[in-house]
Amino acid sequence: MDFTGKAVLVTGAARGLGKEIARAFHAAGAAVAVNDLDSVKVAATIADLGGGPRLAAAPADISTASGCAAAVDRATAALGRLDVLVNNAAVNWEMSIEKHTEEIWDKHVDTILKGSFFCARSAIPWLAASRGCIVNIASELGLIGVPKNVAYCAAKGGVINLTRALAIELAPDIRVNCLCPGAMNTDLMRECAEASGDAKAYIEFYSRWAPARRIAEPSEIAAWVLSMAAPAAAFMTGAIVAIDGGSTAGRV
Ligand SMILES: NC(=O)c1ccc[n+]([C@@H]2O[C@H](COP(=O)([O-])OP(=O)(O)OC[C@H]3O[C@@H](n4cnc5c(N)ncnc54)[C@H](O)[C@@H]3O)[C@@H](O)[C@H]2O)c1
Repeated sequence: MDFTGKAVLVTGAARGLGKEIARAFHAAGAAVAVNDLDSVKVAATIADLGGGPRLAAAPADISTASGCAAAVDRATAALGRLDVLVNNAAVNWEMSIEKHTEEIWDKHVDTILKGSFFCARSAIPWLAASRGCIVNIASELGLIGVPKNVAYCAAKGGVINLTRALAIELAPDIRVNCLCPGAMNTDLMRECAEASGDAKAYIEFYSRWAPARRIAEPSEIAAWVLSMAAPAAAFMTGAIVAIDGGSTAGRV
């Protein structure tokens, strides 16, 4: 896939899947704006990806509407255009319903759902001009429920139907699709494992959870983001694509 001449903004790109998405678009010739909360980590990510004129810093807190506007402003000021927005940033703290305070609920919903909407809203004029696209990163946990993750599941489910509503309203100028990954080998996964109290059992559980009997590497999920953004996907909009090793296909 060749994204030469295209400009991409990836939220939450200082580590994990976001960083792999940024790496993959950059390797495919795109100019990439790296968003995350921490400008030091954004700078380190850009250095790690090789630096140069096709990488730009767009630090901002995308859990607020003004932060989303700042991320898009910084990306477009640096790159001069925008062809692809990837809404990837998220938080996930697993805990029982009783422990879900208003603050915990708001942090999940604001980062995952509100952030995806307001980044999209800020990007619309740029994406309409380029006839670009949005790829929202939801989760297998937007398609099914699990215990001790209610705010995350609810917010990810919201991203799925946000995708459909945006796709309808923004057609035919801007395509909007949603990728639902399964469990991936990232820092977030490791942090959830540590917080569970038995990291080894947690990783083993998720390694058996999907029919594929393993968790994914973020690079193999990133490759699908590029496929969904590519010109070959021109007829694809409003689609919800599960790349989850079969975890949401059914039960044995
Ligand atoms: N890791 C998994 O197993 C898994 C499974 C399914 C879906 N996902 C989804 O994939 C995406 C990436 O997951 P990951 O495992 O790479 O997560 P991660 O925690 O490793 O990375 C997420 C990044 O988002 C950033 N971020 C958080 N809040 C932000 C904010 N308000 N503004 C800007 N940046 C912010 C974090 O600083 C971090 O760098 C997320 O949407 C996640 O929900 C992950």
